Amino acid sequence: MRRRLHLPRRFGTKSSDPGGRHAASIDVMDEPRYNTIIEPFRIHSVEPLRMSTAAERRGYAEAAAYNLFQLRAEHVLIDLLTDSGTGAMSRDQWAAIQHGDESYAGSPSYFIFRDAVRDLFPFEHVIPVHQGRAAERILFSVLGGPGKVVPNNTHFDTTRANVEATGAEAVDMVIAEGHDPVAWHPFKGNMDVLALEELLRSRGADVPCVFVTITNNSGGGQPVSLANLREVRALCDRFGKMLFLDACRFAENAWFIREREPGQGSRDVADIIREMASLADGMTMSAKKDPMGNIGGWLALNDDDLAQRCRNLVILTEGFPTYGGLAGRDLEALAQGLREVVDHDYLRYRITSIAYLGSALTKRGIPVLQPFGGHAIYLDARALLSHLDPLVYPGQALAVALYELGGIRSCEIGTVMFGRRPDGTEHPAAMDLVRLAIPRRTYTQSHIDYVIEVCERVADIASELPGYRIVDEPPALRHFTARFERIQP
Ligand code: F0G
Repeated sequence: MRRRLHLPRRFGTKSSDPGGRHAASIDVMDEPRYNTIIEPFRIHSVEPLRMSTAAERRGYAEAAAYNLFQLRAEHVLIDLLTDSGTGAMSRDQWAAIQHGDESYAGSPSYFIFRDAVRDLFPFEHVIPVHQGRAAERILFSVLGGPGKVVPNNTHFDTTRANVEATGAEAVDMVIAEGHDPVAWHPFKGNMDVLALEELLRSRGADVPCVFVTITNNSGGGQPVSLANLREVRALCDRFGKMLFLDACRFAENAWFIREREPGQGSRDVADIIREMASLADGMTMSAKKDPMGNIGGWLALNDDDLAQRCRNLVILTEGFPTYGGLAGRDLEALAQGLREVVDHDYLRYRITSIAYLGSALTKRGIPVLQPFGGHAIYLDARALLSHLDPLVYPGQALAVALYELGGIRSCEIGTVMFGRRPDGTEHPAAMDLVRLAIPRRTYTQSHIDYVIEVCERVADIASELPGYRIVDEPPALRHFTARFERIQP
């Protein structure tokens, strides 16, 4: 006879149990559920972390003019600057590297790569490039230009810069909740379809294509729903426009759809991704994110003429269109990464472990963007350092403090990144965030526990942190190279 265990309600609640039979008890023959999240991999090869003292780090920060991009990576203890190209490749990806064929043209590695891309994104033309921004530059060189306007839920910084570099205008149109760090919405990356319709109605002739970024990185790693993509598609059809996905974090987005969108809970993530692709005419891709690569990207699309014009530009700067600036071995590693990223155990771990960091910080009263994103937790620096005006860069102040006190490198996503307009004026960004981006399969839970402790220490002294001023900056993408000075209180 089977015994029944009586457990707290939260153990038994699952959507497949609408009657709540398991709500207060669980059959011992059922699958036991545990709260500890474990990494669904074990370590195969290790890299050393270099310890440093706070005194040393103060010196490194000053020498880098308080710009964390200017630090030497070995002076960083836990590097959460980005999840881009910084993940750990798997045993099978390293094996795929050995299979790489370095033929200049028509390498079999290209076809392995192309087929892996098409398995999820069945576009007619798949053009490799060295990373996402190369795809952006090539596409906007053809579609952009003075007088044009490109709508997106939120342009990533390089995407905006590549639109603007052609003389075109980049317009962000995320839903209102997307600007509010605490508003709860399951798909806070959704496009504001009314605003998009208004733009297409008033300036339709100037819009070469519509973009949707999945997940919405600059807006907090927030997903876009299938329903929203369908609405955007319908508008594009009505106004005769192409729809492109900036799809860097497509698998995380699809996992959120599976978890949160009504009717999607039992679908295979790969199937959801194919539906997302079926709603678009093309995509730009940084393969340094969800495809698990250390380098790479692609441009994929259906239109033959546009593809031909883009390929001509690829030849000009990237290389022959079957390698696009990548080695054959890179293409093979990406093909394998694409197979791994759609694994449900991996995605469950990925999204749960990001939420682990977010929940721990929230429990300690540290303001973070809600709901938690797919690849990162975003600290709300404007709320935590409320004594600082946005124009003295609370995000930068917080990021420098996390580095000096704990050796954690994060990334300001706020007024430093977005405050300077093309006309030279400076304005506060919509939010001042500090992103703790988690590289894929790289840090363990104890690393994250350390990060939580450092954040707590910094939060305790947040109201005493000084602001910064920029003493030197380039005309665009200033956050990478600007030099800062600490404002003495
Ligand atoms: N689009 C999005 C949404 C991105 O997040 C990035 C890169 C790009 C395009 C450009 O791709 O770096 O391969 O040229 N994001 C990284 C980050 C750099 O840290 O979020 P890339």
